[in-house]
Formats: sequence, structure tokens, C-alpha cells
Amino acid sequence: QWTTASIVDEQVARIRAQVGDGRAICGLSGGVDSAVAAALVQRAIGDRLTCVFVDHGLLRSGERAQVERDYVSATGVRLVTVDARERFLGALAGVTDPEQKRKIIGREFIRVFEQAELDLQAEAGGDKYRFLVQGTLYPDVVESGGGTGAANIKSHHNVGGLPDDLEFDLVEPLRALFKDEVRRVGAELGLPETIVHRQPFPGPGLGIRIIGEVTADRLETLRAADAIAREELTAAGLDRDIWQCPVVLLADVRSVGVQGDGRTYGHPVVLRPVSSEDAMTADWTRLPYDVLERVSTRITNEVPEVNRVVLDVTSKPPGTIEWE
Ligand code: XMP
Repeated sequence: QWTTASIVDEQVARIRAQVGDGRAICGLSGGVDSAVAAALVQRAIGDRLTCVFVDHGLLRSGERAQVERDYVSATGVRLVTVDARERFLGALAGVTDPEQKRKIIGREFIRVFEQAELDLQAEAGGDKYRFLVQGTLYPDVVESGGGTGAANIKSHHNVGGLPDDLEFDLVEPLRALFKDEVRRVGAELGLPETIVHRQPFPGPGLGIRIIGEVTADRLETLRAADAIAREELTAAGLDRDIWQCPVVLLADVRSVGVQGDGRTYGHPVVLRPVSSEDAMTADWTRLPYDVLERVSTRITNEVPEVNRVVLDVTSKPPGTIEWE
């Protein structure tokens, strides 16, 4: 019988056989794949797994807490958080080109992760972390594509340019699974609902949802607008109906508005709700008008920098899901 429990047992046994008494490291992104992969490995080898969560400052509201608090209490995993917010902001200063942003975020991510690994190795008395845990799924294996940002570590982990002692043996316990199976395994392992059913979120995070230069103030504005949109979609019970709903800040665009007592000259945010099976193609989601209205009213009332909310009604193709 191919039950979820049997998948867990089989993978735990395999991981034990592969890792032996070695040490493993896993980069958590907050997403379901790395979270489930790490939870399986934790079950197999306990504290010989260390998870590293890089806070690049491009996260949405509450995401760091979800990992540090909810995920750790559900799994008991040993977690190291690296606060790299200043570093990423510095590296992104003055950059507006989308590809440049992605490259910079990917590069910095790998550097921070490498340094974390070296620090952990030193802490373990020079004992190497030989194994790298990755949440590679079956479709990734077939496609063998790869994004940027957090996902970049996939294609770069042992490519030229890294010191020899940073080459890892990969542990990929989800290689035979599809996304829905991964979610079931996550639930079986007792992971929080917010992680098991999290919608896709790009590795470069809010960095590619600010059209224009990424700054601390703009991140704060976008984070506030995004949190409102997510809150209202969740309250309306729509989370499972939409694939994801990026909120995009048009930071270099201003328009005139009237808020409170006077004229404003603020920024628009774009709502990009999409329906999709696999993100290769997508349709814009026909959200109920009353939900759109609540999102719009709340954002313009609660986020002073934003005076206009617009809806993206483009399918993919021709539009991609993200704006950058
Ligand atoms: P696009 O914008 O290409 O996005 O239609 C397709 C899906 O991929 C996500 N996405 C990314 N995920 N790193 C990721 O891990 C990235 O660089 C990246 N770019 C886009 C996007 O959110 C959507 O689900």
C-alpha cells in the first residue's frame, strides 16, 4: 500500500542509510518543499541536521516568524537564522533592472549560505557538513529547470567557483513526489497548515515585486499592502481557489489622489490574482467584487504611500505571473 505514512517510513530509512552518522544542512525558504524535505531528514537524523534560514529582508510580513516559531515548534528542528537584511539592501541599492536584481539576490544568497555553513562547521569543531538537503520534486527532476534566489542554490551548489570543501552530497527525499503528495507528507509530519498549504512565492521575494529600486521604505509599503490583500483573501476563504496573488508596487509611478484632507501624489499597487495548474500558463482570477473592494479600501486607508489599487487582467501568456 502506497500510503503517506509508508512514504515517510521509506524515506526516513533511506535518509538514514545515505547519511549514516554524517551531518546535513538545509536552506529553508519558508516554502513547502524545503520545509517537508527538512522535516523528513530531521525525523531521520535529528540534530545532525541544521537548517539555515536566510532573512534577506525581501520576505512578506510574518514569514520569518512562521519558520522560527511555528515550524520549529512542529518539528523540533535545529534552526539558524541569518539576518542578512542590510547586506541584501546594500547590494540592491541603485539597481532597477529585473535580471540584475535576480542575479544579485541569487549571488548574495549563496554567499550568505556558504558563510553560514563555514560558521557551523567551525562550531562543530571543524566537522564537515557533507550533505545538503534539497526539496527537489519529481517535476523539477524532469524539467531540471531552476529559478533564481533561493532556488538558485539548486543549480549552483557544487558548480565551479565554490571552495572544494563546500561541495555537498545531495539528499533529496522528495525526488519521486508531486506537489500534492509533498503536502500530504507535510501534514503527516505535523507541519503547520500555513506552511503545508502555502502558495508559491518566488525566491527573490518582494525584491521582484517592487518595480524600480528596492529600498527599505518601499519594502515596508509593499509588505503592508501585501499583508492586507492576503488577510482579506484568506478571510474570504479564497486561498485554495487561487494559485497565488502577487501584490506589486509600482514604485516609480505616481498618480494624483485625494485622501483625507488633501491631494496626494502616491504610488499604485497592482493585484495579480492568478489561477493555474503548474504556473506555465495562468488565467487571471475573477475575484468577487466585494473582496476586491475591501482590499482596495483597506490598502488605501491603511497604507499612506498607496493611493490607487489596480487589477491585472492579463493571462499568461502573454503576461508572466510576476511583473519582473
Ligand atoms: P512567472 O512570473 O515566470 O512565474 O510566470 C512562474 C512561477 O514561478 C514563480 N517564480 C519564481 N520562483 N524563483 C522562484 O523560486 C524565482 O526567481 C521565481 N520567479 C518566478 C512565480 O511566483 C510563479 O509561481
